[in-house]
Amino acid sequence: MGLKGRDLTSIRDFSRDEIDEVLTAARRLIPYAEGKKSSDLLEGKVLVLAFFEPSTRTRLSFETAMQRLGGRCVTIADASATSMRKGETLSDTIRMLSHYGEAIVLRHSNEGAARLAAMVSDRPVINAGDGAGQHPTQTLLDLATIQEAFGTLRGIHVTLLGDLRYGRTVHSLARALAMYGTELTLMSPPGLGLPAEVREGIEETGARLKEEDQIHRAVRDADVLYVTRIQKERFADETEYQQVAGSYRIDASSLVGAKPKMIVMHPLPRTGEIAPEVDATPHAAYFRQAFLAVPVRMALLSLILAGRLP
Ligand code: NCD
Repeated sequence: MGLKGRDLTSIRDFSRDEIDEVLTAARRLIPYAEGKKSSDLLEGKVLVLAFFEPSTRTRLSFETAMQRLGGRCVTIADASATSMRKGETLSDTIRMLSHYGEAIVLRHSNEGAARLAAMVSDRPVINAGDGAGQHPTQTLLDLATIQEAFGTLRGIHVTLLGDLRYGRTVHSLARALAMYGTELTLMSPPGLGLPAEVREGIEETGARLKEEDQIHRAVRDADVLYVTRIQKERFADETEYQQVAGSYRIDASSLVGAKPKMIVMHPLPRTGEIAPEVDATPHAAYFRQAFLAVPVRMALLSLILAGRLP
């Protein structure tokens, strides 16, 4: 049915073919994302960026993507400056915003916020992170990074290391990788394992899933080591956070024994999980990953708003 006019609230809203379509498009759009080619495909269109939680990369890469396609953005970057402070509901806010532009990109602290927004919005809603729920557009750029490094998503062994309980990027990514039959290894501090429903969803696909507790084994076996930050803001209690804070850190010595082509990814921001010395190793892929946000989001916006590419 094509991606034009579609919502993206969960990575499961897209089939594998549709994900492939976005990834193929993103590869073609790299020269546009680099400013070497230009397009006015989305001229006259407005994208509403409704960010009720902090963001650097996600918001600015959506904004860059839209502008490089000739479109414009209106932005809520500071939720405390909106009428939600006066008690306006999310559904009223969204209903109104859906008349201010051609699509809404929403980041909100409540899990399920994007799905609710999609129900009340007349325009497509793109989930840019809903609490500890999902972050499907991050997943698309994560997949693009893996595909660029290995030429494929099939037969890759991905190890997810970090806060798998509250980390929304891994919830979406694990589901997507399962669609590609990727081998998945999970490693997390005590109490921060993958939620049961995410796990069950992966197991249903027949994907291989195992747990690891030794960093050197996790590094040795992985093609991709996907590291995440402990999501401090999601903990109900500070002492619970203190028990796990700083419990894992990848530095140059952790990478001894890694496959030569192994890549280290991170959705960023990092808060100590990856030592800066890793940046200079050939394994570091997280800044490339952050750049690929632009062509991937350009691809997504082109397909959702125009139904075609530049
Ligand atoms: C992530 C997020 O917001 O979920 N950041 C991002 O979008 N790149 C990861 C995080 O905050 O840890």
